[in-house]
Amino acid sequence: MKFIHLTDPHVTATGELFNLDVDARLRAAVQSINSRHADAELVMITGDITHWGEPEAYRRVCEALGALTMPWYPLIGNHDVRDAFLAGLPNVTADDAGKVSFRLDTSAGPFLALDTLTDGTHAGQIDERQLAWLDDELAAVESAFLFMHHPPVRSGINGMDRIPLLNPDDLAAVLDRHPGKVRHIFFGHMHRAFHGSWRGIPFSTVKATAHQVAPLIDGESPLTTSCELPAYAVVLVGDAHVLVHDISYMEEETEFTYDRDSGRTAAD
Ligand SMILES: [Fe+2]
Repeated sequence: MKFIHLTDPHVTATGELFNLDVDARLRAAVQSINSRHADAELVMITGDITHWGEPEAYRRVCEALGALTMPWYPLIGNHDVRDAFLAGLPNVTADDAGKVSFRLDTSAGPFLALDTLTDGTHAGQIDERQLAWLDDELAAVESAFLFMHHPPVRSGINGMDRIPLLNPDDLAAVLDRHPGKVRHIFFGHMHRAFHGSWRGIPFSTVKATAHQVAPLIDGESPLTTSCELPAYAVVLVGDAHVLVHDISYMEEETEFTYDRDSGRTAAD
């Protein structure tokens, strides 16, 4: 099974942010996905769909992502505005508390998505109700993939570690009750490639389609952004593997046919 992990479009009402055309960057991702990965089952978008949460920004997102040839499912992030998110996007379901946590049954198994948006802070939190929901869902399945906006682990990039998931231990307590069931955690928020494992569970995120976070991995620098080119990830799932390919889709024009004899001299 193939699916796309795309994150942090940060679209605005004007289409621009930090002198970047974030609208065009999102549209370019859509064009790349449609042309190269039309066989993907779906697209998961792990939050910060917009930067300021204006209704017009969500309208722009719908216009851009509406061109995808496969279904797309947005998670909510710290830059989103809950009411506008719920009103402005399709494939969004909220629980009775307005939280956008959901289960999606795919050909690769259940995808479980959590809502980490917390009022008054760019840090994130998983509330008790969602933790109980996750506990119940994991009890009912053989395995699952977990999606959320905030990473459950600190990265060493100080600017991001100052706006973390505030209660990773609560999440860990739930996951510990279902050992081996979560095959991979996909998240956003980091605005850069970041892969590893947490408590034995593999995780990954990918560059934003908007701006990136500079890799100042010194534990003390302030949050610093960059204009590195964006990416999305192509994920291949089989019974025994989960493969994550980061795709720098705005550099596709740099591709060339591999020539095994290039640069070889007659003496070689
Ligand atoms: Fe973001």
